Amino acid sequence: MDLHLKNKKVLVTGSSSGIGKAIAKILADEGAQVIVHGRNEQRAKNIMDEIIDNGGSAFMALGDLSTDEGAQKVYDTAIREFGQLDILVNNAGEFHARNWMETTPDDWNKMYNTNVVSMIRLIRMVIPSMKEQGWGRIIQMSSITAHQPFPLWPDYGASKAAISNLTVSLAKELAETGITINSVSPGTTASDGATPFFHDALKMFDADTDNREQLEKNVVKHLLYNPTGRVGKEEDIADLVAFLSSPRTDFINGTNFRIDGGASVAVS
Ligand SMILES: NC(=O)c1ccc[n+]([C@@H]2O[C@H](COP(=O)([O-])OP(=O)(O)OC[C@H]3O[C@@H](n4cnc5c(N)ncnc54)[C@H](OP(=O)(O)O)[C@@H]3O)[C@@H](O)[C@H]2O)c1
Repeated sequence: MDLHLKNKKVLVTGSSSGIGKAIAKILADEGAQVIVHGRNEQRAKNIMDEIIDNGGSAFMALGDLSTDEGAQKVYDTAIREFGQLDILVNNAGEFHARNWMETTPDDWNKMYNTNVVSMIRLIRMVIPSMKEQGWGRIIQMSSITAHQPFPLWPDYGASKAAISNLTVSLAKELAETGITINSVSPGTTASDGATPFFHDALKMFDADTDNREQLEKNVVKHLLYNPTGRVGKEEDIADLVAFLSSPRTDFINGTNFRIDGGASVAVS
């Protein structure tokens, strides 16, 4: 299937690592021009160089999205390279393994700012020109925890629930503009960032994490079971995001896609 992504101009936030990195690579493979973003220059540069070495088109933008200035810097870099953005993949986010009583009011505020307000900063910047060109895609990285909260990491789950919620509100706000916005909710995915987190979380089960295969088996056994029997791969999530970025999906709007191997037990 041709996704018609050739020469589309895309900013993938948090693409210096993990799921975002896989999204940037698949979009570049599909012919899109991609801005690789992160805070760490070397990590972002490595991914940009990898894409270019594979024949793709990539640029780099650096900035902390949890501040207005950082987000503006990222947006300005993207506009300097491209003149406009067709697709915004709001993927950057953080997670911490902590329980309710360890999570302070300050932690809650910081989590909301980093995971939710960071997305809003960029959304507010891209909307005017997307409206002007009458087309745009915004894809928001949510999580299974938005819809199936755990007793652990409560601030993270609540931040992701806000993302799924505001995505629906914005789809209504953007009625008849040609811009669609959807959220994607991965289950446990063996990304660069999540792998150390899994190691820590599995300590409480005394589970074997010596090699990658054992680690992933124990994630499914102890942390979050799903009927496929395996954890998600970064590329599983990236393929779905690539599809949602496509002009072929003009009629998919204001919805959430769970991609968790069937871990959320619900009819949807
Ligand atoms: N892995 C999972 O199991 C899972 C499940 C559900 C949802 N998700 C979501 O998927 C997204 C990607 O997660 P991942 O597992 O791929 O994580 P990851 O490997 O840790 O990557 C996170 C990326 O976000 C960037 N980032 C974090 N905070 C930022 C900030 N304040 N400003 C700018 N960039 C920032 C990081 O940039 P630096 O290079 O600067 O660190 C990095 O590129 C997140 O939104 C996460 O919540 C993950």
